[in-house]
Amino acid sequence: MSANTFEEVKATVLSAHESTTSKEKVNFYNSWAKNYDQHVAVLDYRAPSLAADSVLSHFSGARESAAVLDVACGTGLVAKQMQKRGFKLFVGVDGSDAMLDEAKESGLYQELKQCLLGEEAFPAEWAGSFDVVVIVGALSVGQVPAEVVRDLCEAAKPGGLICMTTRSNCDNLEYKIALEHELKQMEKEGLWTCVEVTEVKDWERAVSDQEDGYISGAVYLFKKNCT
Ligand SMILES: C[S@@+](CC[C@H](N)C(=O)[O-])C[C@H]1O[C@@H](n2cnc3c(N)ncnc32)[C@H](O)[C@@H]1O
Repeated sequence: MSANTFEEVKATVLSAHESTTSKEKVNFYNSWAKNYDQHVAVLDYRAPSLAADSVLSHFSGARESAAVLDVACGTGLVAKQMQKRGFKLFVGVDGSDAMLDEAKESGLYQELKQCLLGEEAFPAEWAGSFDVVVIVGALSVGQVPAEVVRDLCEAAKPGGLICMTTRSNCDNLEYKIALEHELKQMEKEGLWTCVEVTEVKDWERAVSDQEDGYISGAVYLFKKNCT
């Protein structure tokens, strides 16, 4: 690994804040793809393993035959963690070509699709198809709009689990409130039931000048209702 000091990684991540549209953000990921895994390791990015742990502790079916949809899959870090816990069948979707190329190289996915979530239609053929749907590191300001969680619920089989993460630090607080409002609204509509919400203090290392040490984050686990 080249000298990925924390300062270099911080500068790269902060440069992403210059991207204002989803398209620009995905272009940022295109330029980051080759270094992504090494850089997020420097940030002690634990969201993929935290999400995989949450799914594992509530999934009661046969893991090796469970269909998992990894939304905003990036390079494949979530599938890698899920595979370590016995899951084998992965479909991935992401907006970034270059991140998808890395995911393909991982050899973990049966199928990979490109889709700019929130702007392009979510693949309709996936409705009701997955035992587990995960989205990690992408439900945050400037990335995937909160209302896309409706598509994630739609893609799950009745009784399937939907696992989502978000950051709880300053620049994402407004987004987090909107996300939680949507999650609750969908529960009121009878679409799914909350299984657990885990607030995590040491989510990942802080990169902004206003924050020190680690920022916090949250893992949400819902079960699609059988209606
Ligand atoms: C922080 S990475 C997380 C990747 C992976 N889930 C992980 O935890 O390592 C965010 C991913 O979301 C994707 N992304 C961001 N906004 C998107 C959008 N609107 N549509 C599709 N993908 C998006 C990026 O291309 C990137 O791969």
